[in-house]
Amino acid sequence: MTEKYENFLDFVFYQIYPRSFKDSNNDGMGDLRGITEKIPYLLELGVNAVWLSPHYKSPGKDGGYDISDYRAVQEEFGTLEDFREMLDAMHANGIKLIVDFVPNHTSTEHYWFQEARKSKDNPYRDFYIWADKPLNDWVACCESAWKYDDVAGQYYLHCFDPTQADLNWENPRVREEMKNVLDFWIDLGVDGFRCDVIDMISKDWENNRMNKGPHLHEYIRELFGREKCKNIFTVGECWGANVENIRNLTGENRGELTTVFQFEHINRNCRSRFEPKNFSLSEFREVFAKWQKITQENDLIYTLFIENHDQGRCVSRFADDGALRYESATMFATMLYCMRGIPFIYQGQEIGVTNSYFDKIEDFDDMETTSFYRAYKDVLDKDDLWNLINFGTRDNARHPMPWNGETAGGFNEGAKTWLPLYPEYRKINVEADKQSEISVFRYFKSLLGLRRQSEALRRGIFEDITGEAKTHFLYRREYDGEEIVVLCNFEKETEISLPEGCVRLLGNYPEHENNVFAPYEAAIYKKLKR
Ligand code: NOJ
Repeated sequence: MTEKYENFLDFVFYQIYPRSFKDSNNDGMGDLRGITEKIPYLLELGVNAVWLSPHYKSPGKDGGYDISDYRAVQEEFGTLEDFREMLDAMHANGIKLIVDFVPNHTSTEHYWFQEARKSKDNPYRDFYIWADKPLNDWVACCESAWKYDDVAGQYYLHCFDPTQADLNWENPRVREEMKNVLDFWIDLGVDGFRCDVIDMISKDWENNRMNKGPHLHEYIRELFGREKCKNIFTVGECWGANVENIRNLTGENRGELTTVFQFEHINRNCRSRFEPKNFSLSEFREVFAKWQKITQENDLIYTLFIENHDQGRCVSRFADDGALRYESATMFATMLYCMRGIPFIYQGQEIGVTNSYFDKIEDFDDMETTSFYRAYKDVLDKDDLWNLINFGTRDNARHPMPWNGETAGGFNEGAKTWLPLYPEYRKINVEADKQSEISVFRYFKSLLGLRRQSEALRRGIFEDITGEAKTHFLYRREYDGEEIVVLCNFEKETEISLPEGCVRLLGNYPEHENNVFAPYEAAIYKKLKR
């Protein structure tokens, strides 16, 4: 790995979903000034990079992933000037900023689509994928991925909501436009991009697959293999990526991406978004250990995440969001952020925010949820329906950030929020957490502090030393003579022998002499040299 790549291992990202982070002008929706206001909070936590979910002009059918103008800021979020101020303030405080780049589709309100539908010979017609009848049986949001457009007199492809039309990347003009979009934000000073469903920009028509088509690498290289992008950090969202794909997408000499998000661990407890399946925490160990090994052996960078704006809260989804919420939240943080790769923390994860429960469709915004509801409301038993919805809804991650237990949880001054407030905000919020004897925030802060000080945690080799046990995850990191041992116990009390010479640096339970570890106990040790 070159020095440039190695330095990326020093990043610790915090993902901000701008609609829900902080509403500085009390209009019910978060905004860029709200983010700027909270920079001291990010510094206190100890992150040095931010991934901002889409801030672009959008009708908001898919939380901003339906862009109608790639160069304008969503009105409720502020202006381009606010963006500049936010970026400058981040840079002045040593924080890098990557923004979301959504190349696969635009909103149907985008000028290109509005032009394209007008006639077959409109210069923008070929920006999208049209056909006289559906070309396959692809499904999106519980319906056909092909929608007939009356104005155009043809069907267009939408792999997500019908208001998100897929761009035709086979058209060189589309690729040119997208390069220009990237350059616009690079010139403004952003440090990189999180690339939304990037592996879908080339469709595999032959194998009837929405992603990983034959031109994928060529198109990505056309975007990011340029001189202009040589210091840009990129992370691609790649749902179905296997080792081979990842090697090709992120190999350092490939001129493609820096790293990817792949979702094998996240997918372990569900068959699809609204269909849970049996899961045990030892599967995390198996998946993580496997990918640590692969990325290490191939000199690739791994991303360490368990939440984002599309996923339920980890304590509710994978562990205990009741009595052992603190222990669960901190155990996951330990397990993840001591591994080799780049940590990503999703807003609210650092105070152990839980999933919510609503049983009126008006209380949801997520279009995947509303389309699931439409498709199944008359099919499923009511309780089953709401249980599945509350398990899978992406709104679990999108309620306004609870800053304190006062009006609107400190998100704003009381204006009706775009999505209901997080129901637990009076109990679970930043202020209360920081004042608590067992504070998730403080633990995250110490953990990130430790990571900053330890070369072994950032650059060291990874080795799984759990052995055959399925009750816990024990691994070691080592760099230049420094050795760290990390222990994460799962849900049951377990007796675990540690390697000789372990001195505890941090843990989520009081230190103890014996080797019996409590449910969700996690600890980090320095291993003394013999
Ligand atoms: C993945 C994004 O994370 C998600 O929020 C969005 O709905 C789809 N891509 C479509 O852009």
